Amino acid sequence: MTDSADTGEKKKERVFSGIQPTGTLHIGNYLGAIQNWVTLLDEYECIFCIVDYHAITVPYEPDEMQERVRQAVMLNMAAGLDPERCTLFVQSHVPQHTELCWILTTCAAWGHLNRMTQFKEKSEQHKEFVSAGLFAYPVLMAADILLYKASQVPVGEDQTQHLEFSREVCRRFNARFGDTFPEPEPIYSDVPRLMGLESKNKMSKSLNNYISLLDDPDTIKEKLKRAAHDPARVRRDDPGTPEICNIFTMHQGFSSPEEIEWAAEGCRTAGIGCIDCKKCLTKNMIATLEPIRQRYQELEANPDKVNDIIRQGDKFCSEQAEKTMAEVRRRMGLR
Ligand code: AMP
Ligand code: TRP
Repeated sequence: MTDSADTGEKKKERVFSGIQPTGTLHIGNYLGAIQNWVTLLDEYECIFCIVDYHAITVPYEPDEMQERVRQAVMLNMAAGLDPERCTLFVQSHVPQHTELCWILTTCAAWGHLNRMTQFKEKSEQHKEFVSAGLFAYPVLMAADILLYKASQVPVGEDQTQHLEFSREVCRRFNARFGDTFPEPEPIYSDVPRLMGLESKNKMSKSLNNYISLLDDPDTIKEKLKRAAHDPARVRRDDPGTPEICNIFTMHQGFSSPEEIEWAAEGCRTAGIGCIDCKKCLTKNMIATLEPIRQRYQELEANPDKVNDIIRQGDKFCSEQAEKTMAEVRRRMGLR
């Protein structure tokens, strides 16, 4: 923390993170990102962004985009991002993101971009047309972070490479044009990478291997019943290895420390079976997700409130963004 000259108060460091408007959020997003974001609200000045410009780098339906963005805002609020204690806004409502993105493409090494594994995976999934926007996706992410001079970026493990890229772009800009941006650091949660229900790939919307934050209790029960567990436990008496069991990973996000210990010990010693272990997880997951689903329904019934939150966030971020851009343009001899 640094002292603020005019008030004498400690100025909080700034946190920035983004999430794509995918139409739904899953428990991987929750455990890897949002649950962790909520714990940062008091210690940091937090800005969270719905990154619609990132979402258009793969094929999508324009008629659905507005609804997806609103859903993302409501889901984040329902999951605990209290707009009184943080800023929520929409990326495309602040055009400075694209301005800084272009500028940063000139500080980004093509060779570094070419090593991004997420680009390789996504271009495999969308072979029919791989846009240059998909290739430049990490530059836009760097612009998002640097535009607000954020020093901390809470993300899931899948964003590590993108964040390292942002750091390199930041260093190159500072070296060329003078010290302008703090080098952003990642903050990870206790569950930085949740596998999908089949336990083979990362949980993700596109692979349809997820539990949604809005799934009702019966759906959660059904999905967990069929979810893969420790493959070594074929019979009830086989001892297991919690560290490699995705069900145990989920316990770490949803259960109390005593229950986590109970599950670990019971699994290792075959003291409990996978069915008991899943039952306990199901109860806890429903207890966490039900209030989120209810808050979401309340927000859905109150569109004016949601619009107000977005407008306030857009206004605050536009002002901050323009301040940074004025400095960037001046340093670069552009105006
Ligand atoms: P996205 O939906 O790709 O915009 O991701 C939003 C946030 O959730 C990012 O910080 C991701 O790193 C995180 N995230 C996405 N999927 C997972 C997962 N399966 N496990 C942990 N974190 C995840
Ligand atoms: N790329 C991130 C993801 O796919 C989302 C994102 C966009 C982001 N801009 C960001 C995350 C800035 C952190 C900071 O999950």
